[in-house]
Amino acid sequence: KTYNVAVVVGSLRKDSMNRKMAHALIKLAPESLKLSIVEIGELPLFNQDHEETPTPAISDFKQKIKAANAVLFVTPEYNRSVPGVLKNAIDTGSRPYGQSAWSGKPGAVVSVSPGAVGGFGANHHLRQVLASVNVPTMPQPEAYIGNGNKLFDANGDITEQSTADFLKKFLIAFDLWIERNI
Ligand code: FNR
Repeated sequence: KTYNVAVVVGSLRKDSMNRKMAHALIKLAPESLKLSIVEIGELPLFNQDHEETPTPAISDFKQKIKAANAVLFVTPEYNRSVPGVLKNAIDTGSRPYGQSAWSGKPGAVVSVSPGAVGGFGANHHLRQVLASVNVPTMPQPEAYIGNGNKLFDANGDITEQSTADFLKKFLIAFDLWIERNI
């Protein structure tokens, strides 16, 4: 069996440590998980007036999420919560009512921050939103990755062996979570 996992990164910044984390996870994933990033930077700001007439960027985004077996969110914390760009993507994918791209996809959350708290606030606000869009989100292991500015070398590889080992275990647990919840 293989599962296709849509990876949604909550930062649009070129040098984003969360994007680096997403690429590291792609490399660390077991054979059975095919991770690919689904971009959110071209999505317009959600406007309910236009939800019945989606732009090509919106249709393309929803189609890619629908095609995936599961969703993995890798996000920074902005002011103790979810970055607006990520919330915009989740709201966009959830509409029109009854046509959500998210519903029933097993999910998991990784938050990365330069701070010591590892994006805990964003991670948990995101879990609340995911409950609303019917994404069963893996409860354990939790991944609050702090000191993210020291975590990657020039190639984007993880410098800390214990963190790489933890992330491998996280992905194996996610594989099992998908199997149980798909
Ligand atoms: C931040 N940052 C931040 N960090 C954190 O740990 N908790 C927070 O509440 C905030 N708040 C916050 C608000 C805004 C508007 C910005 C722009 C930044 C710092 C943030 O973790 C840092 O910029 C990361 O590098 C962002 O992740 P990427 O872009 O590197 O993936």
